Amino acid sequence: MTRHFLVDTDLTQAEQAQVLDLAAALKQDRYAVQPYAAPGAGRKTVAVIFDKTSTRTRVSFATGVADLGGVPLVIGAGESQLGHKESVADTAKVLERMVSTIVWRTYAQSGLEEMAANSSVPVINALSDDYHPCQLLADLLTIREHKGRLAGLTLAYLGDSANNMANSYLLAGVTAGMNVRVAGPVGFLPDPAVVDAAAARADETGGSVMITTDPAEALAGADVVATDTWVSMGQEEEKAARLELFRDYAVDSAAMEQAADDAIVLHCLPAYRGYEISADVIDGPQSVVWDEAENRLHAQKALMAWLMAASGLAELPSLPGAAAGAEGTGA
Ligand code: CP
Ligand code: NVA
Repeated sequence: MTRHFLVDTDLTQAEQAQVLDLAAALKQDRYAVQPYAAPGAGRKTVAVIFDKTSTRTRVSFATGVADLGGVPLVIGAGESQLGHKESVADTAKVLERMVSTIVWRTYAQSGLEEMAANSSVPVINALSDDYHPCQLLADLLTIREHKGRLAGLTLAYLGDSANNMANSYLLAGVTAGMNVRVAGPVGFLPDPAVVDAAAARADETGGSVMITTDPAEALAGADVVATDTWVSMGQEEEKAARLELFRDYAVDSAAMEQAADDAIVLHCLPAYRGYEISADVIDGPQSVVWDEAENRLHAQKALMAWLMAASGLAELPSLPGAAAGAEGTGA
């Protein structure tokens, strides 16, 4: 069975841990796994498609595919027939005959679901309006590096709590057994369906979910503080209203005083200093955003290798995490 990664909960807690273990191994030994190198037959291709702009995702996937022995085929917005001249399903049926994995940044989550339903090769969500699950693998790897564990830690996310990052913090965080607190204004809190899914996963892992309009309630003693832009891609026309709406949810020095003394700060970037995060915090000693950005590379390489192995399309050598990933086949 082909495994896809469209939403954070597509990996169980054990599978997520396998991917993070493999990511840590690949960070130590960058070229140790080569699922896209076809022995004696050259290199396999991975399609990396963008309907929205990107720096980190584009560079980390292109570099990661090359590191894994493959050839990245990066397709920018408007450069293919997809979405305007040709359906998602027809596109998938063509791509699956040529490429080994499809990575796609797009708007509607339903498009990714349609791509996956029509593809015999893994499909990876490189950000949709609803989720950013690859970013969360990098964030979890970063937290683990700095805190030594995930389960039992408390993460507070402040700001636009109806966006893709809020949803993914909830789902990926509780999958790792974390206590995830999300704070935003009325009307910009997570969809109840996402909260229910997070609560159900938390019941399995020992994590927990808190949704609040009070930033102080979310921040109290938190081990990790995270935020994201108040104006996501596609929301540019709402910018003026949004900059007012979220003012009380900024991650600044006053907010950080309410978190644990040794709290770390995450931001997926791009960041807007003076809005969702102050310059002294993002450029200060508690910020780990540059580790977080680098970890996109290692986490996504592990994800691609794991999905190829779990789909029966490649083998993994016995690295820490790699053998366990292969056991996930057909799960
Ligand atoms: N964090 C993130 O996904 O960055 P890009 O939009 O630059 O890819
Ligand atoms: N919420 C942001 C994340 C950017 C990486 C957006 O969707 O634009």
